[in-house]
Amino acid sequence: MRPMIRILGVARDLLPAYALIVACGVLTAATGLAVPFIVKAATDEVVAGITGGGGGVPAVLWLAFLLLLVDVANTLITNWGGYLGDVMAIRLRATLSRNYFEKLLRLPQRYFDSELTGTIISRLQRSITETTGFLNMFANNFLPMLLSLVAALAIIAWYSCWLALLLLAVYPLFTWLTALTSKRWQRLEQAKNSEFDIAGGRFAEVVGQIRVVKSFVAEPRELDHFTGHYDTTVALTQEQSRFWHRMDVARRGGLNLIFFAIYAIIFTSTISGAFTLGVMVLLIQLVNMARQPVQGMSFLVDSSQRAITGCRDYFLVMDEPVESAAVGADAPRPTQPRTPLGEPIVDFEDARFGYGEGPDVLRGVSFDVRRGERVAFVGESGVGKTTLASLLLGLYPLTGGRLRVDGRDVADIPLPELRANVGVVFQDPSLFSGTIRENIAYGRPDASEDEIVDAARRAHAHGFVIALPGGYDAEIGERGVKLSGGQKQRIAVARALLKDAPILVLDEATSSLDSKAERLVQEGLEELMADRTTLIIAHRLSTISSVDRIVTLRDGEIDEIGTPAELADSGGIYTELLALQGSATKAGRKRLQRYEILG
Ligand SMILES: Nc1ncnc2c1ncn2[C@@H]1O[C@H](COP(=O)(O)OP(=O)(O)OP(=O)(O)O)[C@@H](O)[C@H]1O
Ligand SMILES: [Mg+2]
Repeated sequence: MRPMIRILGVARDLLPAYALIVACGVLTAATGLAVPFIVKAATDEVVAGITGGGGGVPAVLWLAFLLLLVDVANTLITNWGGYLGDVMAIRLRATLSRNYFEKLLRLPQRYFDSELTGTIISRLQRSITETTGFLNMFANNFLPMLLSLVAALAIIAWYSCWLALLLLAVYPLFTWLTALTSKRWQRLEQAKNSEFDIAGGRFAEVVGQIRVVKSFVAEPRELDHFTGHYDTTVALTQEQSRFWHRMDVARRGGLNLIFFAIYAIIFTSTISGAFTLGVMVLLIQLVNMARQPVQGMSFLVDSSQRAITGCRDYFLVMDEPVESAAVGADAPRPTQPRTPLGEPIVDFEDARFGYGEGPDVLRGVSFDVRRGERVAFVGESGVGKTTLASLLLGLYPLTGGRLRVDGRDVADIPLPELRANVGVVFQDPSLFSGTIRENIAYGRPDASEDEIVDAARRAHAHGFVIALPGGYDAEIGERGVKLSGGQKQRIAVARALLKDAPILVLDEATSSLDSKAERLVQEGLEELMADRTTLIIAHRLSTISSVDRIVTLRDGEIDEIGTPAELADSGGIYTELLALQGSATKAGRKRLQRYEILG
């Protein structure tokens, strides 16, 4: 129950609306309660009329008209309450979704490394749908029912304490039997949800990479995989529902026995003259009114349990530790570095890092990159080059040693500020659906048209962009699927140019392109690197030979650092690469491939 209360705490702003809904509930209950009394009065009139003790047609017609008025009032109030309930539910949904998204945006990279996108979405959908649906139903249906129950009990007690006591006994019995089912029900519900999440996660991944799925003719396998999870949910639901309904039979069985006793008391008391016929009719109506909530309670318990499980999943995410302060103002603009030209602006000192529980990827790494310098990183695949870029972006904290950027420890630099000053062009250009213009201006949404076109020109993208139907307004599809690899790269370079960060990391930016596309991207990159400090994770000897210094990595440690000339005959990795260049032998080519060097 606690997660539900927390959800209500989140939605404090909605309390006035909730109070209005409750007021509607009270009025609905009141109008509903008037009916048995009017029917009782009518019954008494009718009995009097039949037995010749007075009671006339006009009086009965007036009572019927009163019933009509009460019914109309009930209809109007119920609908007004229903409208308020709908609005409250959608506002609650909006608040919960916004908070969830904000929370996700603040979670560290580590969280996203181990969760599938679809799973995150599926969890959000479910927990919010269940919770808002429940609260809406609770306000609209259950509360009026509960209020009429209390009133009905009070009125019944007025006529007969025994009847009221018997009715009262129903509720603890019912709640106790429900509590017995709850634990197992929720365990099964959680198991089911986890299947939905896994299936949803895979679903989104498959749709997002449908080309790969098609190329491997993996559709049947993916479908089987998906169906398998849903089959499991069917089995789990069968078990859950069988259990639930068995318990419900027991619950309702107990209930039926109690109602048997209640009706027996009412009928025998009427025959013995303790109640008039009118009172009997009134009591039967009130008992039925009190019976409704008990039956409705099965449904309520069912949906409240779902909602509690949903809330729990919601707070599982909401309780994750965040990496940054609340998402607020726009991204800060890059700042002019304080480090003088030629002094270290990026300084790794005995840095140590490992992902999660895994072994250390980087061990005692020390090097610096001076302001204005171009440094290339070379090492076998998986040695930790991209990891260095991630650390520089503050995506993960170091596990040992220090990393200073522009003279400050990264741990002391607010993440938005750090990231504003580091531009990265990733190998996968990672564009967004939307227009070319939006993508180039992603880091600076306030950029003018001239600035966007200028960035595109310098990235050698302008030519192809204006040739596209729609030009800068052309929609590029999910992750830029409508553009070629080289076009995407050039848009990514334009995006980085517009961001204008003083430190630049190029991670394998040209490795996937053919030589003409690469030349165009390379020209764009040259433009990007001008007057900047650049860390290049290089895959071409031509790029490597033109940098100021080379850092070679081996087994998570620094192997050598030096200028291309120094390393050319030092006997290290770079010397080996140069020697292998143009190698015709199979072994030589294979060795080059380990460094993913493209000659
Ligand atoms: N998010 C992650 N979670 C766990 N392990 C990771 C993660 N990213 C990378 N690794 C591991 O860290 C090591 C270094 O990876 P990294 O991506 O830095 O290599 P790289 O040098 O860039 O390789 P490549 O040249 O192939 O791009 C690899 O062994 C990899 O398996
Ligand atoms: Mg890499």
